[in-house]
Amino acid sequence: MSVTLRPKSRTPRHVDVDMTTTLGSFVAPDPVFTASGCAAAGRELATYNDLSLIGGIVTKSIKLHATAGRATPRMAETPSGMLNSIGLQGPGVDVFISRDLAWLEEHDVRAVVSIAGTSVEDYGKLASKLRGKALSMIEVNISCPNVEDRGQVFACDPVAAADVITAVRRSSTPGVPIFAKLSPDVTDIVAIATACVEAGATGLSLINTTLGMVIDTSTMRPLLAGMTGGLSGPAIRPMALRCVWQVHAALPDIPLMGVGGIRTGLDAFQFILAGASAIQVGTVIFNDPGAPQRVSQELREVLVSRGLSNVAEAVGLAHRPRQDPPAPTVSEGPPVTTPPLADRDDRSDASNSSDIEAASFDDDLEVLMFNDAEDA
Ligand SMILES: Cc1cc2nc3c(=O)[nH]c(=O)nc-3n(C[C@H](O)[C@H](O)[C@H](O)COP(=O)(O)O)c2cc1C
Repeated sequence: MSVTLRPKSRTPRHVDVDMTTTLGSFVAPDPVFTASGCAAAGRELATYNDLSLIGGIVTKSIKLHATAGRATPRMAETPSGMLNSIGLQGPGVDVFISRDLAWLEEHDVRAVVSIAGTSVEDYGKLASKLRGKALSMIEVNISCPNVEDRGQVFACDPVAAADVITAVRRSSTPGVPIFAKLSPDVTDIVAIATACVEAGATGLSLINTTLGMVIDTSTMRPLLAGMTGGLSGPAIRPMALRCVWQVHAALPDIPLMGVGGIRTGLDAFQFILAGASAIQVGTVIFNDPGAPQRVSQELREVLVSRGLSNVAEAVGLAHRPRQDPPAPTVSEGPPVTTPPLADRDDRSDASNSSDIEAASFDDDLEVLMFNDAEDA
């Protein structure tokens, strides 16, 4: 018997996958979003992506008033990542609504509006300003210092985090999904997640950057003007994945958005397997502005290659119990000798050239193979 190998095609053989994902009352046609602060309000990315095809744009966190941000330098490269200390530079919510939100609506781009404040009252006022506006969701960036509590970051205290979410829930359009964006810089992320959900958060975005620093060895001083900054990029991916995993295990019915170091469809797939219903791409956009649409397409191909017909069925799949391989059974009959592969009739499936192609396609997509034999 001869086996014919066809050259690998870069185009998947069929891409019939339902990418729809549900985030509370917001049903998005695609699970890939941009991460806050990495795509401004979307306009600059429109040249590289059809933004109406991805899940949506999570806009740069907006504050009540215009903010200049921190002094420079405010960005630094790190191994497999980036450190930033931008300081939430922005035009203030009124300009954002009239200029940026209007642009997103005009271009049929789903908007997830990220808000940030320095007091619980700020967040309530921001939510009131956004009442009735054309947005799909609100993401509440609680990784901000609370001026009323010695600069303690809201996201690091379950009571403060819950107070913010209560204020946003009270003031925003009834029914609009509210996602709390959590910081990984806590001992027990599940405690913060639970407090936010009990206060009315529809879902959670996991994670914001983690605090880091770089020292310039020439000047022998911190490189960033703000001394410390938020670390992002692939360096934090395992941490982000662990947070999604832990929160999904504790709150399996709460929709999660996974964010942290996602660069490819396979990275995104890991987050979905860990329990995220959607993912966000951030730092990768700085060197590949077409990443949002590319990651979406790659994720679609990964799902096809794993025999999955929709994103929803992959959410949290990595939590299924691991099955031990069956114990070897003692044969009662005469010993069976296995003929060489080329002589066996039962390999008719494998001689199908499209299966060979599918196998090589998977190899090309790295490990993460689904082992059906373990899946009983
Ligand atoms: C330059 C920069 C600015 C950011 N600004 C915000 C922001 O305004 N609000 C927010 O919630 N997160 C902000 N983030 C965090 C990202 O949204 C994201 O949570 C984090 O970078 C991890 O994802 P990534 O590794 O894919 O970038 C920013 C990140 C970067 C790199």
